[in-house]
Formats: sequence, structure tokens, C-alpha cells
Amino acid sequence: MKLIQSMQALSPLALLASLLLAAPLAVAEDFEIQGSAEAGQQPYQQQCASCHGNSGQGDGPAARAFNPPPASLLREELSAEHLFKVTRDGGMAHGLAPTMPAFNRSLNEQQIHDVVAYLLSLRDE
Ligand code: HEC
Repeated sequence: MKLIQSMQALSPLALLASLLLAAPLAVAEDFEIQGSAEAGQQPYQQQCASCHGNSGQGDGPAARAFNPPPASLLREELSAEHLFKVTRDGGMAHGLAPTMPAFNRSLNEQQIHDVVAYLLSLRDE
């Protein structure tokens, strides 16, 4: 009984300690896309274009069915890290609509890097 009480008292401290330890790590981690735009084209066209449009502008045939509709993925303010994480984890995990599916099962990490590289390449066109 005493042991349980002291563990309960400790847990907020443990939580705080883990937050303090995790914070500098999160800042130190530099995100870089390591993918090939060429390799990303096919998975993008197969898995994303129906909603996001062939050129990523949010004008796919299914786009109008969604509220909010998918916005253009070519916007400069969307970082590579944001594109990668939303694609991997889905909209809901990042405060966006759950209608943006998570692709961590249908695409592997490398394919997600490739798809994001492809999206970034579309910005220049
Ligand atoms: C079933 C339709 C659908 C498919 C398929 C889909 N998305 Fe989305 N996606 C959405 C919707 C809807 C949103 C808008 C969510 C919001 O704004 O809250 C979205 C948002 C996003 C965002 C966030 C953009 C922003 O404005 O912050 C990214 C990144 C994204 N999608 C990437 C992808 C990629 C890459 C694929 C393919 C691997 C894909 N999506 C496939 C529907 C889809």
C-alpha cells in the first residue's frame, strides 16, 4: 500500500522528467526527405490523385466529396516534414480531418519519402 502511494507521487515527476528529456531531442532532429521524385510518381498517382488531383492541386475527382476538401499540396508553407507525417499518420493525428487516411500500412517509409519528393518536385513545374 505504501509502495503504491509513493509510486503515485512519483509519476508526475517521472512524466516531467521524460518531457524535459524528450524536448531537446525533438528539436535536435533534423528532418530530411530521402526519396526519389521519379519513384514517387506511381504511388502518388495510384493512392493520392483521386483526392488530391494529378498534379497535387486538390482537384481530384473525389475532392468535392470532402469537407474540408483537400487543399493544394503544392503550397510553399507545407514543410517536407509536415507532408511526410500527415501522409504516414493520417489527418487526425495532426489536427486535420480524419478523411485524410494514414498510409503507414499501404506505403512503406521509403515510398512515403518518394511520394513527398514527387510532391516537392511538382512545386517547381
Ligand atoms: C480519400 C481521399 C484522400 C486520399 C486518397 C488522400 N488524401 Fe490527403 N487529404 C485528404 C483530405 C480530405 C485532406 C484535408 C484534410 C484537412 O484539411 O483537414 C487531406 C490532406 C492531406 C495533407 C495535409 C495538407 C495540408 O493542407 O496540411 C497531406 C500532406 C496529404 N493529404 C497527403 C496525401 C498523400 C501523399 C496521399 C497519398 C499517399 C493522400 N494524401 C491521399 C484526402 C485524401
